[in-house]
Amino acid sequence: MVDPQIAIDPYLETARETGMGILYVLETHVHADHLSGCRDLGSVTGAVIGIHESAPVVFPAQLLADGDSLEMGNVHVKVIHTPGHSPDSVCFLVTDKSRGPEAWFVLTGDTLFVGDAGRPDLHGRETARKLAGELYDSLFHKLMRLPDDIEVYPSHFGGSACGRSLSGKPHSTIGFERRYNVALKPRSREEFISFMLSDLPAQPPEFETNRQKNLGLVPVPI
Ligand SMILES: [Fe+2]
Repeated sequence: MVDPQIAIDPYLETARETGMGILYVLETHVHADHLSGCRDLGSVTGAVIGIHESAPVVFPAQLLADGDSLEMGNVHVKVIHTPGHSPDSVCFLVTDKSRGPEAWFVLTGDTLFVGDAGRPDLHGRETARKLAGELYDSLFHKLMRLPDDIEVYPSHFGGSACGRSLSGKPHSTIGFERRYNVALKPRSREEFISFMLSDLPAQPPEFETNRQKNLGLVPVPI
């Protein structure tokens, strides 16, 4: 399970209906826009919670690093550290070994959306420029090195405050985004930083407290 919402019953139901076990609960980053169900889902199922090692969480978790591999039966997940939207953002490159030895799709969290990239300003004005530069490196030096036919599944589509011009289409491919995503047009690193810091919507006021709760620093009322 990746990026669970706080209401975990639908995930438990799906696992029951399909006869599947939940072995890992993975977070693509410390979320600001919603409360995470990772700790609840972890304690109910016994699954390992996985989050990037730079996330200052105060609950037990497997701390993930760039290049780590997670094995789940026929499924192999490779961790790609893609800082930018947040310092702890990761993408998960997934291979289903029952289909073939090559990666099939990538879960891009809030790093790469369909139509745009994740906003780099949610950690404050001072770090926004640095994170926008890191986002450039993550997109152009990591994700855009994947083959065109890899499917892209982001954590949000149109309507989310984690980005600007997100498409209503929930998934895409690396090749289509390479050609038509506004954030992936050929630009210098400096031009990219300016582009990513322009026309950003206001940060909803609950974002910072959501992040504190998702780190385990502030209790979540039941
Ligand atoms: Fe986010």
